[in-house]
Amino acid sequence: MSKPVCQGCQSMTTMTIEILYHNEGENPDEWLPALRTALPEANIRQWQAGDAAPADYALVWHPPEGLLENRKGLKAVFNLAAGVDALLASGSVPEDVPVFRLEDAGMAIQIAEYAVYAVLRFFRRFDGYARLQEQREWGFLPPYSRKDFTVGIMGMGVMGKAAAEKLRLFGFPVKGWSRTPKQIEGVACCHGKAGLADFLKNLKVLVCLLPKTPETVHILNAGLFGRLPDGAFVVNLGRGDLLDEKDLLKGLETGKIRAAVLDVTAVEPLPEDHPFWGHPDITLTPHIAGLTYCEETVAVVAESIRQLECGKTPSGLVDRNLGY
Ligand code: NAP
Ligand code: GLV
Repeated sequence: MSKPVCQGCQSMTTMTIEILYHNEGENPDEWLPALRTALPEANIRQWQAGDAAPADYALVWHPPEGLLENRKGLKAVFNLAAGVDALLASGSVPEDVPVFRLEDAGMAIQIAEYAVYAVLRFFRRFDGYARLQEQREWGFLPPYSRKDFTVGIMGMGVMGKAAAEKLRLFGFPVKGWSRTPKQIEGVACCHGKAGLADFLKNLKVLVCLLPKTPETVHILNAGLFGRLPDGAFVVNLGRGDLLDEKDLLKGLETGKIRAAVLDVTAVEPLPEDHPFWGHPDITLTPHIAGLTYCEETVAVVAESIRQLECGKTPSGLVDRNLGY
């Protein structure tokens, strides 16, 4: 059997590559055939408890203990999501094995849709009108001014940039914050700790699309909220641990924060007795902002494996020191 070959590369060898697959919560009856079609030259097996045979690549989401540790032959691990926090925190990927994450793979447009939805929900006061309907009241809520409705996006990576691009189409002033400097047309870019105060100034909506790293845990806290204008809105689509949940509740109580839309929470699923469930100013979704779609993901991962087999480095390589 020949090994996969990346687009544009002619070399072929006769070794079969071994792929180990485990994707928590996804239907293997959809994923395995799709992978086998995309990589017909590879042996692809679903991980089973006790499988200790060598593998060239592991394609995983929430791998169980024993899947990655001491796995012989491992050339790379593919995280079947954008965020690699859980995989890195598990400590299961051997230090010398590169980790690749999903870049876009159909998620960026979903995240952009979600960010636009959340901003419009606040801007057009749909949250307020829903409350009026509950009270059977045919009321009027004064509109906000678009020019004063500045949206700030924390994390100007693949997801943040996609959200910014779509929000700009609606004419909102957009600001972005990242670790390193950026130049993005129509977006006022700030970076680093030194640029944070400038970024937060004048924001009406804060959209968080940061990865969870040691630097970003609880970055959305009372101190940061204190630097926002009163009555700002918060949207967290990154990871639950980016937000200090107690500080958000306090911010909502004092009016510092007007309302929040959260797709992610510190504990998922959200515990039954959590105060977020019944909070009138919190809108929740169960971590669905950017779903991993089989077709797009398989296409991206298959091409990345082909590139690796040809000695190239595909994009999506995670910097394990930075944690994203
Ligand atoms: P990405 O391309 O790696 O972008 C990450 C961005 O965060 C970059 O702009 C990076 O700055 C910035 N950043 C990282 N650490 C920072 C720090 N300490 N200070 C300031 N900026 C910092 O990642 P992505 O694909 O956009 O995804 C971002 C995160 O979204 C994922 O890690 C995941 O947690 C979350 N996500 C959630 C869902 C969902 O369904 N809710 C779906 C997809 C992704 P530089 O550009 O300077 O490196
Ligand atoms: C989803 O949360 C992801 O990181 O892809």
